[in-house]
Amino acid sequence: MIRFLTAIHFFWFLSLSGLVAGSRDVPGDHLRLPSEASKFFRRGGGADDQVDDNEGTRWAVLIAGSNGYWNYRHQSDVCHAYQLLRKGGLKDENIIVFMYDDIAFNEENPRPGVIINSPHGDDVYKGVPKDYTGEDVTVENFYAAILGNRSALTGGSGKVLDSGPNDHIFIYYTDHGGPGVLGMPTGPYIYANDLIEVLKKKHASGTYKSLVFYLEACESGSIFEGLLPENLNIYATTASNAEESSWGTYCPGENPSPPPEFETCLGDLYSVAWMEDSDIHNLRTETLHQQYELVKRRTSNDNNVYGSHVMQYGDIGLSKSNLFVYLGTNPENDNFTFVDDNSLRPPTKAVNQRDADIVHFWDKFRKAPEGSQRKVDAQKEVVEVMSHRMHIDNSVKLIGKLLFGIEKGPYVLNTVRPAGLPLVEDWDCLKTVVRTFETHCGSLSQYGMKHMRSFANICNAGIRKEQMAEASAQACTSVPYGRWSSLRKGFSA
Ligand SMILES: *[C@@H]1O[C@H](CO)[C@@H](O)[C@H](O)[C@H]1NC(C)=O
Ligand SMILES: *[C@@H]1O[C@H](CO)[C@@H](O)[C@H](O)[C@H]1NC(C)=O
Repeated sequence: MIRFLTAIHFFWFLSLSGLVAGSRDVPGDHLRLPSEASKFFRRGGGADDQVDDNEGTRWAVLIAGSNGYWNYRHQSDVCHAYQLLRKGGLKDENIIVFMYDDIAFNEENPRPGVIINSPHGDDVYKGVPKDYTGEDVTVENFYAAILGNRSALTGGSGKVLDSGPNDHIFIYYTDHGGPGVLGMPTGPYIYANDLIEVLKKKHASGTYKSLVFYLEACESGSIFEGLLPENLNIYATTASNAEESSWGTYCPGENPSPPPEFETCLGDLYSVAWMEDSDIHNLRTETLHQQYELVKRRTSNDNNVYGSHVMQYGDIGLSKSNLFVYLGTNPENDNFTFVDDNSLRPPTKAVNQRDADIVHFWDKFRKAPEGSQRKVDAQKEVVEVMSHRMHIDNSVKLIGKLLFGIEKGPYVLNTVRPAGLPLVEDWDCLKTVVRTFETHCGSLSQYGMKHMRSFANICNAGIRKEQMAEASAQACTSVPYGRWSSLRKGFSA
């Protein structure tokens, strides 16, 4: 602090003596603000270098894209993130929470009114603001909140990112995803190109200094791969690369497992990795890059099959900043300096995001008393989920064969474009193909998002809408019964 004040005084002296404008010692570095002066004079001074970054306000948008008790973990992650930011010193007025809010008082929740994010964790639900809940958790509201556009909101608390040019923004999303797409509890889903457009618009509005985006979802790398420019002052990390699943953790039957009465996963691997690390350290002493490395190691789970590759995108240079700039820091951790490895844990077993619903219904089935209605219901749910999956998988495969031939079909659908290229060139085509498929074959639902790459490749191959409609009509003569198949929530595109 004393050095900071000294720098300001020195700057003041410089400006009085008319030296600032012509400062030849600082090529390309135009001294204008005390904070810039301070940065210059303190260069190399260690963690406190970040002082200049802390003038602005810290803002956060936290969003869970799912609902349903079998997706407990996503809303749990978001609640945990909220508690972390509050302890870090952010104010409620600067934290915008999107969560369906059907978990805490769900009839399946063994601890009514409480949500936990780890087996021995405390309640993370208490105090979480209900800005956008239930059917207000929409893509439109999410974009409007980021852009600070109140007139584009429908429902909700009206809280938006009212940020200014010196402010720092943290966005955290957790849910299911698929290539180029992120799930939402309401239709339609988030498409990568639209999200990138929103971020570009936010940047063009000059209403932030830097923005960090943490993203957990299957194939989450595909949201930024080849799409996020480096010049937006945005640094993003994702739970997985563009072509692999992300993982739920603290799941029934795994180690560590949730308390036995919880028949659902409590968290997600990448999400608990960054939060459990942030929970215990003085975040003035840990950079985004250090956290990236640590989270990458923990999420890869010693490179075993229960893990994914954490990726980084955008303005990588921003990762030299301390986490404090975005998350604040909990004063109780002041004496816990980050050192490499001090939050690494042994590998844990994890559950593929896409199988977490089956884990839930199966665990429910297994534990329900013989002959009970609960057992019958759980069995019915397992059967419905499985038949929906088979229907979707078989339909997509068949459409591929109808469009490209028996031999070539699977090859075209599964082609992965080289790194650095976006999933698809024509995003409107992708949305049209998704709607056409859903019209004939029923809702993709969470599981079906995995086929986005196939739909993208159908577009990349130049298939016209009419051809897609004809193939879909031939492949799907009927849609299996059940909430997984119905389109009652609307199209996902
Ligand atoms: C805000 O949203 C409204 C409604 O969608 C739109 O008409 C308007 O152009 C938006 N304003 C800005 C500044 O983007
Ligand atoms: C950190 O350590 C100092 C010196 O031992 C002590 O005075 C201070 O209370 C500690 N702070 C916290 C938050 O534990």
